[in-house]
Amino acid sequence: MANENPWPNEGNTGHIWDEDIRELDYPPPLWWMLAFYAGFVMIVFYALYYPTIPTPTGNTKGLAGWTQMKEYHEDFETLNKWRAEKFAAQEQALTEKSVEEILADKNLVDYAVATSKALFGDYCAACHGAGGAGNVNYPILADDDWLWGGDVNTIYQSLVSGRVGNMPAYGAMLSSEQIGQVTDFVIAMSEGKADSEAFAAGREVYNSIGCAGCHMPDGSGMAALGAARLNDKVWRFSGERAEVMKTIAKGVNAIGEKETRHAVMPAFAERLGDKEVKRLSIYVHSLGGGK
Ligand code: HEC
Ligand code: HEC
Repeated sequence: MANENPWPNEGNTGHIWDEDIRELDYPPPLWWMLAFYAGFVMIVFYALYYPTIPTPTGNTKGLAGWTQMKEYHEDFETLNKWRAEKFAAQEQALTEKSVEEILADKNLVDYAVATSKALFGDYCAACHGAGGAGNVNYPILADDDWLWGGDVNTIYQSLVSGRVGNMPAYGAMLSSEQIGQVTDFVIAMSEGKADSEAFAAGREVYNSIGCAGCHMPDGSGMAALGAARLNDKVWRFSGERAEVMKTIAKGVNAIGEKETRHAVMPAFAERLGDKEVKRLSIYVHSLGGGK
């Protein structure tokens, strides 16, 4: 650093590095000072206008009465109002038309499907899985294997009043040998081997004890009773031998049988209202298996 300041009149601080790099001592420009003071004014304004200063019991509320949640709710209301106006015609049609009429109107079907997904997630997916893909012990809705029926009116009825299928428990009526035989016959039906002589004993039990009365002699099931189809590879519960034996021994919703399988589809007419039930019926019908 030089001892003497080679630039005495320039207003530098006298700090000089590397021969000629020096620190100047100028006041900041006027525009900068104005912005600086304006900043202070804004801080005071903000502190008064918005909730800002912590207090022992919370914080100051601000002159504007603004909160993030209030703004969120207002925006949400605006959005809902916009939606209600934009889709008033479709919503009206869902209210007034029957599910069959809705199904005949492709635009309306698209609309019902698009507006059902959140509803399905909230009310149905816990049991039936995301997109109706099914869960252990809850039927798949996204296929064309139905307990009660896949036409849109039957789906609608399933939602309106709920469904409870009943199958008696055979644990006390049949010996465990017979339960094993009829189980093997049921599994053979699902594999298309029902006619094989190897399963004659099981077929005999099936036809004599009453299984055929609900599931039909060929195992094609009976939708009016919600009696599952047995002659396909889709299992309502499970196709494992032990699980099929359990279904037969303990029944389904069998009265007085503590270990029976429970299979109750709740009614939704009151919980959701008719319009939402119709919307969901169209959605379920669209999942792939609707007839
Ligand atoms: C608490 C669990 C549960 C909830 C929630 C539930 N379901 Fe179900 N659902 C079932 C069960 C169990 C069955 C089978 C009833 C039976 O075995 O007969 C069923 C059956 C059905 C059927 C008839 C299927 C067929 O093969 O015929 C439809 C359609 C259906 N549910 C749609 C829905 C929709 C849509 C929702 C949402 C609004 C819903 N479910 C909510 C448990 C539930
Ligand atoms: C009163 C009518 C009725 C009779 C009788 C009956 N079932 Fe069922 N069965 C049902 C119903 C209803 C279901 C479906 C329950 C459900 O899904 O909620 C069912 C379900 C089943 C299932 C489960 C199918 C699957 O996909 O997981 C099997 C297996 C079965 N029955 C076998 C039999 C056999 C074997 C007999 C005779 C020993 C029999 N059932 C007698 C009504 C009956």
